[in-house]
Amino acid sequence: MKIISIVGARPQFIKCASVSRELRKTHQEVLIHTGQHYDPEMSDVFFEELEIPKPDYHLGVGSGPHGKQTGECLAKIEEVLIKEQPDLVLVYGDTNSTLAGGLAAAKLHIPVAHVEAGLRSFDRTMPEEINRVLVDHLSDLLFCPTQTAVDNLRSEGITKGVFLTGDVMVDALEYNKEIARERSKILEKYSLTPGKYLILTVHRPSNTDNPDHMEHIIGAIGDCGLLTLFPVHPRTRKNLISFELWDSMPGNIIPCVPLGYLDMLAAMGSAGKILTDSGGVQKEAYLLSVPCITLRENTEWVETVEAGWNVLVGADREKIGAMVREFLPSGGHPDLFGSGASGSIGELVGEYMNGV
Ligand code: UD1
Ligand code: UDP
Repeated sequence: MKIISIVGARPQFIKCASVSRELRKTHQEVLIHTGQHYDPEMSDVFFEELEIPKPDYHLGVGSGPHGKQTGECLAKIEEVLIKEQPDLVLVYGDTNSTLAGGLAAAKLHIPVAHVEAGLRSFDRTMPEEINRVLVDHLSDLLFCPTQTAVDNLRSEGITKGVFLTGDVMVDALEYNKEIARERSKILEKYSLTPGKYLILTVHRPSNTDNPDHMEHIIGAIGDCGLLTLFPVHPRTRKNLISFELWDSMPGNIIPCVPLGYLDMLAAMGSAGKILTDSGGVQKEAYLLSVPCITLRENTEWVETVEAGWNVLVGADREKIGAMVREFLPSGGHPDLFGSGASGSIGELVGEYMNGV
């Protein structure tokens, strides 16, 4: 069976690494990289570290407004699908590359499988929420990381082809945790003492495109005085410079280029707390048992909040400061995301293809 997998952005490279390994045991996989992320530290580093096969097609779409970026992905993916005639298309997560891939395939009547289906923040101002809802409604196979995701789909009338597989980021983390511990020198590089520093990541437009939000976040961390490693997403860097916040960054914040996955895992694993608006980082904080302060008003990963390991603070300077000082997880640490999903995704894809 020929499967086309479509990736384009940082979290998708990480998610596809382990699924791709499984799929290639029994199927032919053709990999498309849309080129949505293209800086070496946003793309190449993940292919190298995670040993992801070289993409068969690199579409070179790059950055742009939503319509242009999604539209270019759509047109170019369609060409490849027509040429390759796959039996199934696999898409990951909720980016513009995900939407374009799902839409191109569905219009050509090619079955679509969605990894990380059913996630909802119920916030339609997030571009990702639009992408998720649309792709879920186009998909034939929906691989859900959590029961909440299954329930979300059911409440939208989607029950066919839905499977609770657990989360593929568990596979990535488990596979690489020990490798990261052995190979990463990130703590030494930035003189970080385990448990005594924070990690900060910010890239959601609701924060990065709002100067007040960025000022509050940076200000709150400056106030707390704790050493904070800040791997800066290119979008964030660009905006911090244009908001004139870059040069006045408080001295306890160490901005650095986006980290490779191994350095990121090592840095997160030994952090005292993690502050983030990322979806994946919220999950990884939980999996690594590090308290997470989420710089958003809502989250799709509600289980981490319910379990008491994640707290939503938006971009409120007072709340961020208070949580950096006071937040301590309460209660236990239940298994929220399963013990690895790639194997079952590989099998379910096989079963589906045999039944078509
Ligand atoms: C995208 C996804 C988001 C995901 C994030 C992961 C959408 C709508 N958003 O957001 O869901 O959480 O990726 O990181 O698909 N840029 C560079 N170099 C790069 C990539 C981006 O300089 O390699 C800059 C460009 O100025 C670009 C901006 O970052 O305009 C935003 O990039 P884009 O891919 O549009 O969205 P992200 O914010 O990265
Ligand atoms: N990540 C990374 N280096 C960084 C920041 C994030 O390797 O500098 C990893 C992180 O560990 C997680 C994934 O990227 O596995 C999350 O991607 P991102 O935050 O870009 O997107 P989101 O998950 O919000 O869609």
